[in-house]
Amino acid sequence: MAIDRLSFNGLRNLRNIDFQPGERINLITGDNGSGKTSLLEGIYLLGMGRSFRTRHLRNAIAHDSEELILHARLAGDPPVPFGIRRHRDSGELEIRLSGERLSRMSRLVETLPLQLINPDAFRLLEGPPAGRREFLDWGVFHVKHDFLDAWQRARRALKHRNALLRHDRMDDASLTVWEQELVTWGEKLDTLRDEWFEAFLPVFEDTLSGLLPLPGLQLRYSRGWDRRRILAEVLRQGRETDRQMGFTQQGPQRADLGIRINRRPAVEVLSRGQQKLVVSALKLAQGRLLEATTGRTCLYLIDDLPAELDSDHRRVFCEWLESMHCQVFITSVEQNALADLWQPSTPVSMFHVKHLNDGEGQLQPLDRQTS
Ligand SMILES: Nc1ncnc2c1ncn2[C@@H]1O[C@H](COP(=O)(O)OP(=O)(O)OP(=O)(O)O)[C@@H](O)[C@H]1O
Ligand SMILES: [Mg+2]
Repeated sequence: MAIDRLSFNGLRNLRNIDFQPGERINLITGDNGSGKTSLLEGIYLLGMGRSFRTRHLRNAIAHDSEELILHARLAGDPPVPFGIRRHRDSGELEIRLSGERLSRMSRLVETLPLQLINPDAFRLLEGPPAGRREFLDWGVFHVKHDFLDAWQRARRALKHRNALLRHDRMDDASLTVWEQELVTWGEKLDTLRDEWFEAFLPVFEDTLSGLLPLPGLQLRYSRGWDRRRILAEVLRQGRETDRQMGFTQQGPQRADLGIRINRRPAVEVLSRGQQKLVVSALKLAQGRLLEATTGRTCLYLIDDLPAELDSDHRRVFCEWLESMHCQVFITSVEQNALADLWQPSTPVSMFHVKHLNDGEGQLQPLDRQTS
């Protein structure tokens, strides 16, 4: 799976770019503020429907544009065109795939599995569980076809239960109905997540051992409620305290991945660079497992790779990327920092983002070294 055409209009300082990325490694260089991260942001938006830089998509629209239009095409026979559009004054995201208008992002997410590794990546370890849950669910979503349905049903049941908990008078009959629904779909989610995790763990351990051997590192999945009790009982017995809190305290919505070293949280032990490598191993392992289970490859967006990785680790990281048959977009301020990291047989395409005087970023292909 590779994008062979990208065109962006009205994305930050990339007012109008149109280019043909290479099918494997794409190196993007340019000065500070030229638009490198914005380019990755555009691809991320196409695959996720949201930005990794702002919660308000409006901020990503170029100051002098009324709208943001991003188009891409997946290579293939036939090729698959898709795109998104967002007007400054409307909150709505227009989504298209092969000419068809979609009401939800999930089909685009499915079409373009992608992973982002950027200078904030270490936050996956130290940040709130929501980020790790999203990481976990990304994996399950792409390999288990019944995940999305179970996730949506569990979320709906949880919303209803929380709303009932906040009513002045407890409606026990309605609570029972929504609790049963939450139990059914919550347990299904747990089964799917647990099966995915069993497959993921050895791939992660193998990836990490090549990148940075860390004996004593343990990755664990926790389902979000007491391991010794069934969800139905947890919910029934938790009604009173949940009502006082105004929300459901335990359940699949609290699932998490715990990363510890010798029983202590990894963030308290590892250096920043080591944390980055652990997160890189997690994200590379996602792509490896996706490829092994479905035959599909994952697209990697890597912002500012040289930051905080020494040259040896950078080389091993790139070797992993090379060994996977995936398309990669890597940015760096310095051209030399990335150009020599690849085997002669790996197709590498190079682009430079030129910062024009009025602030606009333009993309220029550099000499291609493709063997
Ligand atoms: N909504 C917007 N409209 C127009 N320009 C914007 C908008 N938001 C940000 N910019 C500008 O877009 C430019 C590109 O920023 P970007 O973060 O992509 O640069 P970069 O090449 O990644 O830089 P660095 O090497 O410092 O990370 C910046 O000069 C920024 O000021
Ligand atoms: Mg940047």
